[in-house]
Amino acid sequence: MSEKRHITAKAPKYPYFTEENSVDVVNARMGTDIDPRLREVMGTIVKHLHAAVKEIEPTHEEWLAGIKFLTQVGHMCTDWRQEFILLSDVLGVSMLVDSINHRRPNGATENTILGPFYVPEAPRYAPGTNICLDGKGEPLVVRGRVLDTNGQPVEGALVDVWQTNDDGFYDVQQKGVQPDWNLRGVFTTDENGEYWFRSSKPRFYPIPDDGPVGKLLGSLGRHPNRAAHIHFIVSAEGYDPVITHIFSPDCEFLDQDSVFGVKDSLIAEFESVLDEDKARELQFTSPYWAVNWDFVLASKKHGDDEVPRP
Ligand code: BEZ
Ligand code: FE
Repeated sequence: MSEKRHITAKAPKYPYFTEENSVDVVNARMGTDIDPRLREVMGTIVKHLHAAVKEIEPTHEEWLAGIKFLTQVGHMCTDWRQEFILLSDVLGVSMLVDSINHRRPNGATENTILGPFYVPEAPRYAPGTNICLDGKGEPLVVRGRVLDTNGQPVEGALVDVWQTNDDGFYDVQQKGVQPDWNLRGVFTTDENGEYWFRSSKPRFYPIPDDGPVGKLLGSLGRHPNRAAHIHFIVSAEGYDPVITHIFSPDCEFLDQDSVFGVKDSLIAEFESVLDEDKARELQFTSPYWAVNWDFVLASKKHGDDEVPRP
């Protein structure tokens, strides 16, 4: 004769998952002995992720499409292509992180996005060197000073410059087509804080848009173009290094940069110079473009450390 046995569940230590209590249930699973910052970060991410899902109410197909998209983003990543950072860029997250981490005193040059095309250890050049090695584009001379927030010149500051050529590509995107180190170089300020170099007028160009992020932009009715700019990292001993751009004021994409990098304070004046003698002195054809641009560095705060992205 078999006896009937009744087994019942113990009172749960953790509440079971429901649509209503989902955030609390998931976050309650974190252990007690964990990194408090990780607890804060993951707790907040779960809270906002669940809120988004509750607002969107995705179908299973939509949720799977999202998973597939993120998988494609991952598959696109290589040592030299970081599609997740590109996604962060076009969603404005990179600029938000940049802004939060570079709240500088008034008057100091503002930061903007580094972008994926910075190459460390570019050639160190004498003042005035022309970094445009392929001779393409309209000639440009950039002159200015590096100052501290009291307006005093900073001697020995490094002005690291890079930009695309007039076809809209960085040298590293066209190895074997453009000369190595085309449109890159590092200049050093003199005792008056002055630097200058010759180059070509920057033009707009698309961010790499042959992957899932480019496809997303297309689906959203967005273009991939960056407003015409020159990149800079300006650094000096004792100062907070600034990662920044100057933008060309006549670019049609100035108010719709694909990665939200434009700031009002970074838009330069470009003067068209018609003077034949001055052009000859610079070994330029006339007319050429001239920009005057000062960088203002804030003093380094204790513990500041700039970590360029991979
Ligand atoms: C760039 O300025 O080179 C850039 C910035 C963000 C994403 C892609 C390119
Ligand atoms: Fe760029």
